[in-house]
Amino acid sequence: MATFDDLNLNTPLRNALADLDFIQPTPIQEKAFPVVSSGKDVIGIAQTGTGKTFAYLMPVLKKLKYSEQKHPRVLIVVPTRELVLQVAGEIEKLTAYMNIRYQGVFGGTNIKTQSQLVYDGIDILVGTPGRLFDLAMMGTLRLKSVQTLIIDEVDEMLSLGFKHQLLSIFDLLPERRQNLMFSATLSQEVSELIGDYFYEPVKVEAASHGTPLDKINQTAYYVENFNTKYNLFKHLLNNESLSKVLVFAKNKKIVDLIHEKMTPEYGDKIGAIHSNKSQNYRINSLKRFSQGESRILVATDVAARGLDIHEVSHVVNFDMPEKASDYIHRIGRTGRADKYGEAITFITEEEQELQMEIESLMGKHITIIDFPEGVKISSVLLPSEMVNPADKSYYRQATLRDSKGAYHEKKEANRKENSGSPSKKRKKGKKKK
Ligand code: CDP
Ligand code: MG
Repeated sequence: MATFDDLNLNTPLRNALADLDFIQPTPIQEKAFPVVSSGKDVIGIAQTGTGKTFAYLMPVLKKLKYSEQKHPRVLIVVPTRELVLQVAGEIEKLTAYMNIRYQGVFGGTNIKTQSQLVYDGIDILVGTPGRLFDLAMMGTLRLKSVQTLIIDEVDEMLSLGFKHQLLSIFDLLPERRQNLMFSATLSQEVSELIGDYFYEPVKVEAASHGTPLDKINQTAYYVENFNTKYNLFKHLLNNESLSKVLVFAKNKKIVDLIHEKMTPEYGDKIGAIHSNKSQNYRINSLKRFSQGESRILVATDVAARGLDIHEVSHVVNFDMPEKASDYIHRIGRTGRADKYGEAITFITEEEQELQMEIESLMGKHITIIDFPEGVKISSVLLPSEMVNPADKSYYRQATLRDSKGAYHEKKEANRKENSGSPSKKRKKGKKKK
């Protein structure tokens, strides 16, 4: 096994890593280091929790020499505010022995303050596409000195609808620059984007063997509806081994509903996070959960990406996500670094099709556990669960048709984002209403 001494690091970085008690680079860190150092464009693919942040930061920081010039030389674009703070935190750790100015910027905060900070001079700027674009438009942020562009979790930026801002930012960058992209998955749309904007990128992939998926024990229950899911969740919480539980629900409403219903009993042991909560509230909920002050954090998929929260014991998918790849991102919040993790998923009949897609994508089955006796099965539906019967019968047919495809045949097709699947068509149609 390689150690950090085998990478061609400089003393400040080595000291910072020693302070963190990090001795061995992860496979993606080891593989990406020489290629990123060579100055080439790089696409780095490795599963969640395998240290992609340091994989791009280490070689970039090594090259970054002290400078007095004002405009950023490294630009890191990430999809969410929480990730801005996290990446800035990682830069802080790695630059403990360096004289490097860095700043995180994101929406929902005072743009004038951020604009001033940027104007004062920075070396590394981390931000969400929207805020970066706004700062560039104000004229305070100049991007012509950027030597390295890093896009982290870019597929999420695209699904959040940030493509326009992202492309506008690309257009403001100098032609000669190094482009780096790190992600757990590579969608068709991202591949196309890279084809247009990256120059002869080298793909660096870490072997998937022994990586987080294998360290996450995945189980599921077949559950009928929200109220029954809720009863089951409460039942599972009786087990104290669920010590730090990240719960994903399908939308803001359901997140709020779970949060409100549980607050009388759990008080400040439960927090919630979604895009309609204020910035302070989001940061505070996340911080309390990270530090172990709260036991449960209920979230939408805003928290599925990239967040590195220490020792999440369980990820609970109260609802299935929209896309199979989101499932993998979500469960990747547990079983990080050298830890083991548990993922528990609640699956309704409608969600079973996505279960198959997920299993094909992973090449692995989720273990179904019998519904525990003594947990009340409710027949009370939420208004949103009362779908019209026509929709439902269409869905059944689609499921039947799809289930004919054999497990292994589907595998390859799914890797290339199975965009023609009935479930997606159905969802797209629904959204428009
Ligand atoms: O981006 P990705 O999901 O691959 O992972 P990350 O957010 O960079 O988190 C990796 C976690 O592993 C962090 O908590 C790091 O402190 C830790 N770690 C690392 O990055 N590199 C090592 N050599 C050892 C631990
Ligand atoms: Mg990451």
